[in-house]
Amino acid sequence: MARRETLGRPPGPRGHWLTGNTRAYEADRIGFLRRCHREYGDVFSYDEQTVFVIDPDLTHDVLTRTGHSFVTELAPFDMRRDLDEATAQATAWMSARRATWPGLNRAASAAADGRTVEILDAVADGGAGREVDVLTSMRAFTARAIADYCFGADALGVPGLLHDLIRATRPFTESSYEFPAWLPLPRHRHFFRAARHLTETLTGIVRKRRAAPAGDTPEDLLGSLLAAEPALPDEIVTSTLHSVLMGGHGVPAAALTSVVWELARRPGLVGELRDEADGPASGPLLSAPSTAAPLPSAPSTATSLPSASSTAARLPLAEAVVRETLRLYPPAWLMTRTARTATRLGDWSLAPGDDVLLNAYLIHRDPRWWQRPDEFDPTRWLSGRPAPGPAYLPFGAGPRVCLGSALAMRQLTLATSRLAQRFAVESPNASSVALEFMGRLAPAGLRARFAPLGR
Ligand code: HEM
Repeated sequence: MARRETLGRPPGPRGHWLTGNTRAYEADRIGFLRRCHREYGDVFSYDEQTVFVIDPDLTHDVLTRTGHSFVTELAPFDMRRDLDEATAQATAWMSARRATWPGLNRAASAAADGRTVEILDAVADGGAGREVDVLTSMRAFTARAIADYCFGADALGVPGLLHDLIRATRPFTESSYEFPAWLPLPRHRHFFRAARHLTETLTGIVRKRRAAPAGDTPEDLLGSLLAAEPALPDEIVTSTLHSVLMGGHGVPAAALTSVVWELARRPGLVGELRDEADGPASGPLLSAPSTAAPLPSAPSTATSLPSASSTAARLPLAEAVVRETLRLYPPAWLMTRTARTATRLGDWSLAPGDDVLLNAYLIHRDPRWWQRPDEFDPTRWLSGRPAPGPAYLPFGAGPRVCLGSALAMRQLTLATSRLAQRFAVESPNASSVALEFMGRLAPAGLRARFAPLGR
């Protein structure tokens, strides 16, 4: 329980005597949090064990001390709250994380530019100008893109399994009511089945690749993990790929859905993006719009694609659109940490097991740090940093900062530019949909037609 030396625990709404604040929170999550922020300030209690933080410096403090004072490993419906087990998992993950970084750094990410564009073209052309559910289409793109990044030609079947697992995870992210994992609820069975299928498939791919003749290793993330020194056991390679596939799929798809939301409402901006993509600076990747070309069966190699500082760096407006979208609609709008030990949170103190919820969404819209905070204005990113560093954290911060941020920025920048270059984006409901504050923040039910430009 959080306590302040002189004033006791952080203030917060008392809520209903039986259900606490859960019903009010579930009825309107962000409205409830805004009201609490206004009434109680940057740190407030939600219940005896949960504290919300809206202060950028305190948020960074918590994120930076993850691994020491805080853990992040507790599963969404794990009621055992075994802090020792979470700490052991974190230690194992950190060494796998270090081994993964060379395969996800800027240079490695840049090598995937060509494939990113090919896969986006294939998915968009597959829609054939029909009206589609945007989140579903963007997931189809990100699932194929991240599976291809991990496994190249061996990725077959993985996007479908990712889709199943995301669907099975949804009931847990949609509700704050928790049930023990051992209860034989259909949603638990569905989740464990989908997770097992994915793990079995990944294990098979890793074993097959490990057994392949030396020198036959494709330049994908799996190849980079299998080349790590000292060698990683197969189970660690598999669980690492599992984390990368999950992290690299749903979150970027939510971000792209928000990009499309903005593009659908701003034909003028789409025109500017198109000019940028068609301009001489964008280079060969975006210069020749393709027609539904089938994807090549083998992955492109790192040597045949542009170097790290190329494409995205030459699309400053597309990159600014992505940054501004991630500011206004950070898909990971809430990050959770659990106090591992008794520790401090600014003036307050936390007991082991206390949860701290960090709210990127409200920090990104706070008028103390941002001018015109609710306005979508990509140009604020074209002339330097528009707010103090800690006030922008779409990828988190500290030792658990997003492992795929370099890849994500490139994929999203290229996808934004490419969509604007090849299509008129039309949406029948862009002006009526609203953000859904569930697991991943995105406009709910957005539909759009990507009408190919006749040229
Ligand atoms: C718009 C795109 C993305 C956003 C906004 C995003 C955001 C985030 C955030 C905020 C975290 C930290 C969560 C926390 O501290 O609790 C995170 C972690 C992570 N992300 Fe991303 N992410 C994106 C794309 C990706 C991609 C493309 C990949 C894979 C290549 C990826 C892989 C991961 C992994 C593996 C972690 C866990 C890192 C750890 O716990 O050490 N993410 N992401």
